[in-house]
Amino acid sequence: MDYTPLRISTVKPQKNLTFDLYIFFKDQYLCYVTKGMQLSEEKYQKLKTQKIAKFYITENDEINYQKFLDNLLGETLSNPNTNVEEKVTMVEGVATSALERMQKDPGSETAYRMTETAAKSLRQVITSNPDALKKIFGKKVEKNEEIIKHSLNVCAISVKLAEMLKCSEQELEDLGTAALIHDISIPQLNKDDIQLFYKPKRVLSHEDKRVYYLHCKDALVLLQQKPWVNKVILDLVTNHEETLSGSGPNKKKKLTKLEEILSLVNNYDKRTITNKTTPVQTLKDMMIDELGNYSLDLLNEFKKVLQSEGILD
Ligand SMILES: [Fe+2]
Ligand SMILES: [Fe+2]
Repeated sequence: MDYTPLRISTVKPQKNLTFDLYIFFKDQYLCYVTKGMQLSEEKYQKLKTQKIAKFYITENDEINYQKFLDNLLGETLSNPNTNVEEKVTMVEGVATSALERMQKDPGSETAYRMTETAAKSLRQVITSNPDALKKIFGKKVEKNEEIIKHSLNVCAISVKLAEMLKCSEQELEDLGTAALIHDISIPQLNKDDIQLFYKPKRVLSHEDKRVYYLHCKDALVLLQQKPWVNKVILDLVTNHEETLSGSGPNKKKKLTKLEEILSLVNNYDKRTITNKTTPVQTLKDMMIDELGNYSLDLLNEFKKVLQSEGILD
């Protein structure tokens, strides 16, 4: 049997489950709650204290879980009595589960649909809760989760920036999904090459860059010919390392508005990881280093977003 992992924050206690819920314990999958039953608050808290981060479901239950999750997200995100912290944790859990699922099985439509749901929910939380973006951005994670965290950051900020620039609903949706999956193929590079993700661009040799940039084409290979991935998203993912000066792997100099946004925000967040600079310093560096790579208008708009979201404080 094939088991799919889920973050425990994506299943709530005291709800009738429409699927069998498993945990992985002492080298085996154990059915923890059966379909139709509820996860008790007590059991849930116990897992948290034991630092168990994941539940598992079987492949057969994926559709049931997806419906459950849609309901749960709808309920939680629109509930005025639920605090921002809880909303953020749930959305992060959904996005992380979706991305892990996509990394494991990039050709799966279910995984892709879950990523779309995650991107939409992330946007909903950020739009309706002023503190949410800062909370998402400020979280510290273990090194092995850094790529996923980066994807969440890029999704959150690029959607916010696009909202400021009055992009359409459809554009915001496409950008959000593309931002979440833009680095989906990095974990597929070989182990030494993955380390390139953590190195500042300026120290990469010509050969390093060539190898590292393969992740853009690789992503295209994974996602193309999947009828559920539209052309705008494919282009966004393939071109996320392109700049207006033609310095990217595809040497493009003309970028759509969405492509430029994604590339800029990706560049920013990547710098905070590789250069370990503060948000203020990172922005200062970009205003110098990236002139010509992005339009000055966009850089200035971006600065405004970081300011208004309290990220530069
Ligand atoms: Fe990338
Ligand atoms: Fe990236």
